[in-house]
Order: sequence, then structure tokens, then C-alpha cells
Amino acid sequence: MCGIVGYKGNFINVKVILDTLKLLEYRGYDSAGLAFCSEGNLFVRKSKGKIDNLYEMVDSLQTDLVVAHTRWATHGIPNDINAHPHTSGPLALVHNGIIENYREIKERLKDYDFKSDTDSEVIVHLIHSFYKGNLFDAVLDAVKILKGAFAFVVIDNNTKDLVAVKMESPIVIGLLDSGFLISSDIPSIIKWTRKIISLENGDVFYVHSNEFKIYNFLEQKFVSRNVEIIEWDISVAEKSGYKHFMLKEINEQGKVIRDTLFGRIDEESLKVVLDDKVREFLDSLNIDNIIYIACGTSYHAGLIGSYYSNELAGINSTAFYASEYRYIEKKYFTSKNNTLYIFISQSGETADTLFVARELKQMGENIVTIPNVIGSSMYREFLSFPTRAGIEIGVAATKTFTAQLVNILLLNLYLAQKKGFDVSHVIQELLFIHEVVDGILENYEYIFDIAEKYVDYQHFMYLGRHLMYPVAMEGALKLKEISYIHAEAYAAGEMKHGPIALIDNKMPTLYVLPFNKMINKNISNIQEVKARRGKVLALVDKKSKEFVKDLVDDLLETKYVNEYLQPFVTVIPLQIFAYSVADFKGLNVDQPRNLAKSVTVE
Ligand code: AGP
Repeated sequence: MCGIVGYKGNFINVKVILDTLKLLEYRGYDSAGLAFCSEGNLFVRKSKGKIDNLYEMVDSLQTDLVVAHTRWATHGIPNDINAHPHTSGPLALVHNGIIENYREIKERLKDYDFKSDTDSEVIVHLIHSFYKGNLFDAVLDAVKILKGAFAFVVIDNNTKDLVAVKMESPIVIGLLDSGFLISSDIPSIIKWTRKIISLENGDVFYVHSNEFKIYNFLEQKFVSRNVEIIEWDISVAEKSGYKHFMLKEINEQGKVIRDTLFGRIDEESLKVVLDDKVREFLDSLNIDNIIYIACGTSYHAGLIGSYYSNELAGINSTAFYASEYRYIEKKYFTSKNNTLYIFISQSGETADTLFVARELKQMGENIVTIPNVIGSSMYREFLSFPTRAGIEIGVAATKTFTAQLVNILLLNLYLAQKKGFDVSHVIQELLFIHEVVDGILENYEYIFDIAEKYVDYQHFMYLGRHLMYPVAMEGALKLKEISYIHAEAYAAGEMKHGPIALIDNKMPTLYVLPFNKMINKNISNIQEVKARRGKVLALVDKKSKEFVKDLVDDLLETKYVNEYLQPFVTVIPLQIFAYSVADFKGLNVDQPRNLAKSVTVE
């Protein structure tokens, strides 16, 4: 992961660079640093921990050339030395990605004194080894040798040149009135400029004096890239009175559902109205297989999608982790125009997901992506059907998950209607689901009291059946990632095949149990847990509550809705439960340890 920033232009206050870097903190936050040129010298300031530590170190310095970095450690622990930038002679470099052949390169650079344990440091020494006074030439020699994913910015204190390179990892160039602001994403620089160049793989962006040129080392020629004027707005990320971004984002879910649905259902005919390009594409296919590919929370949305495809659209469907599908041998794959691949990623930059999408695109497969970040790689490189959740700051995905569910459901309802299936009863309720969600969010404080009782447990079991199985997985993921409590999620029917051995009074079970055709099966499972002295916390609606209220220890409550809409209303109490447990433990809910918002490494 990591966030990188670079600047070359007339003088700028270094604090502007740090403010920009702070907007990339979601990409990693275990250490940070910057290097800047001032009065002929190259200064480096770096430190373990958050970017805030750097503000004091730079005061209000002005500079015309600077690189900065916020890190998510891959090679080498988070400490001051492993923090970027790394330097070699007059050069300073920041990197996002992984250099796969760094060991071989290190071997080759025996004369260099390596200070850090990072793979990134090899890049700057490698460039320096080719450097004869021209940074651009030296970078072109170096990129021929580098293997892996890399976006980096390197500056030269001798010539005051700057070079930015993109290979797999994201990087964009903001054009300022006088100068260039480079960053890992568009939202971080939109405050300073709306004129953006998104670099493509292989691009080497070179600024000398005030002139720039772009050379593509894959195509081996100079290229020109469009300057995009970014029209979309980002409301400056503020907590708006909430204690954490995560809680704010949980509370935004009614609005997010409404926004993502907007204009995509004809309320009179109850027909799904897809964006033109997506509709034309789906109409051109004769799909009999849908494969969802994603990671983490987005994978859970995809898994729910596979139930929708099988049951609502009548199309055979499965969901895969991108990191697994990536290594499925595809030599016998033949593109028959009958398989649709749906890639889901809120960031639109997840390395594993992007890799598979690019691979299948090259093979001529049918692809639709569902990104949340407009301008992300998945948005730009593929036919995309974006969600409209707005920027999500909390590292734990919440509102982007519900937005993904909306789009996945819409695609399936469209395919169902194309086949002549009557899904109007689902659509009718979908139109009002945001109101139901808002209703749930009017009264959730009681969950804080319940959460307090469970704070000291070390292990949790989450169970659910059918559509509630992926929801249980998502609830468990939320608990583990922000509260650091071990949480196993299982399809409830699988309990008896092994996990039941774990149950005792030290491992509570959270059962996702809205009323549906599974109710009696679920009750049997609960009895099996109780018989082994396990505590049960059940997530119920008013119908299922009647069945289990005397059987379980605690109740989380949601509203009763159509079974295909139950994921929207059951995930919310689970998000709040995880949030409350983490908050009671005094943890950093928005920036949990070891994680980053956008996972751009394999
Ligand atoms: C979610 O809470 C996680 N932080 C993580 O699992 C995330 O969903 C995963 O990394 C996929 O990210 P993406 O949606 O940006 O591709």
C-alpha cells in the first residue's frame, strides 16, 4: 500500500504537502517521512508513527521540490530507518508497491550502503548506479531491471528534476498553475487542482525546469496523456460530530442506498434502469454463468451476489477470492461469451482483484467492475457500474458494502427481468429499504450496553445460513479487524462438522437470525450451542424474536424485510456491535493496526 506525494514548482509550504499526505493516510499509517530541497541541500525527516509527528519537524518551511510518504510496512518493521524517503547521493525516493527482485538487485549493488530492510531502498540506489547527471536517463535504465509493482517519485537535488513512474500501483499528476503535485489518488489533491493526468502502466513522467514529458517504457516511446478535468465533488472528510468516521459512515447507509439507487429504477413500471453502457453490454451477452471476484468485505458482497444470481436471475453463479482466482490455471478457459465476471472493489485499486480483472480482460472475457472510487484503476480500465457511497475514511468498510449490495442486486434484478421473471416484489421493497435502514439507525444505543458485556471474550463464533452466511462472515470480519478479537464465521449447517468442538462458555456465538425459511433449522443449531454451555447472542427481527427470545442470552434487533433484502438490514447491527466492542476496548477504530484502506500489494 503506502501513499506517495511529490511536488515540483514554485515555492510551496511543506505543510501543504503534509496535508495532502494526510489524505492518503488510509493507505498506510505506520510511519511517514519527507525529503525536500532547500538552499541547495536535501533534507530528510522521517519517523515511526503517524504523519502528525512530521508537522513539528518541518515547521513552516518553503520548498520547490519535495517527496513525501506514508507507509504500510511490507519489508522491514515500521521504524524511523525503514520509513521513506530513501536516499542515494543527491536523490530521494518514495515508493508504493513491492519490488519482487530486490534481493538480486541488492546483490548487484554491493558498493552501496543499505540502511533499511525495505525493498524500496534498492530502487534509489539502482537509479543512482546509472546516474550520470540526468535523472530521466538513469530512471529509464533502472526500470528495465525492476520487477513487481511500483509507483515511485524520485527527486534530484543537483538538477532539481523530478521523475514519477507507474507500474501497477496508482499515481496521478495534478497540474498546478505553476508546478506539479503528484499523488497516489485524486481526492488528496483535488483541493489544489482539478486538472489531472492519470499515468498508465509503464509511464515515466519527467519534469525538468517547468516542462514535462511522458515516456512509456513498455511501449518504448514518448506518449501523450489526456488532462482530465475532475468535476466530481468531495466533501471534505469530517466526522460531523461522530466520535469516529466508522460510526459516521455506518449512519450514512440509508443515504448511500438512496444515492446508489437514484435513477436506476423506474418507479412506475418497477423496471431496473441500468446506466446505458452497462445495459447495452449485458444485452449483448447471453449469460449462463456469473463469477464474482473480490477481496475482504467486497468478496462478502460478491458471495451474496452469487445467491442473487442463482435464485433471482436463475443464472449459475459462484464467488471467488481474487487472491485465489489469480492462481487458478486458466489454460483450458475458452471465452464463449456466456460467462460474466463481476469485480467488486470499493477502492478500485486492490492488487489481487485488479490483476485478475486485467488478466481476464486480455483473454477477452466479459467484465463489469463495481468500484466506489471514481477515477480508480478499476473505474478507468473497465466497463464500470460505480457505487455512490462517497469517500469512506474508516479502514473497516461499512457504507461501501451496502452500496455494493445495491449495485449487485440491481444487476441481478435486471438480468431477471430480461428473462421475464417477476421480481417486482423485491424491487417494490428495495425502493424503501433506505427508510428501513434509517429506522434501524434511529435506535442503536442499546447495542453499546450489550457490547460492553462481551468486550473481554477472546473468541467469537458467527453463524448464519443462506444469505445470512456471508453476512455472518462480514460481521466476523468487522469484529476481528477493529477489535482484534478472534471471530470465526461459519455456515450454520457446517457447525456440526467440526467447529462445534470449540464451543464452551468462553466462546459466545452470534447467530444472524432474521425470520426466513431457515428458522427451524436455526433454532436447532442454537439449542446445540446452548447444550454445550455456549452463550448465544441472536440478531433477530420481530418475527424471529418470538421463536428464540427465551432461548438466547442477548438480542440484537433489526427490522423484518423480504429475505433478499435482509443483508441490508442485518449487517448494520453487526457493524455497530463490532464498533462498540472496539471502542470499549479503547482501540483506534478508524485506523486499526496492521491494516490499510487500499491493499495495492499482493
Ligand atoms: C474491509 O473492512 C477490509 N478493510 C478489507 O477486507 C477490504 O474489504 C478488502 O481489502 C477489499 O478492498 P476493496 O473493496 O477496496 O477491493
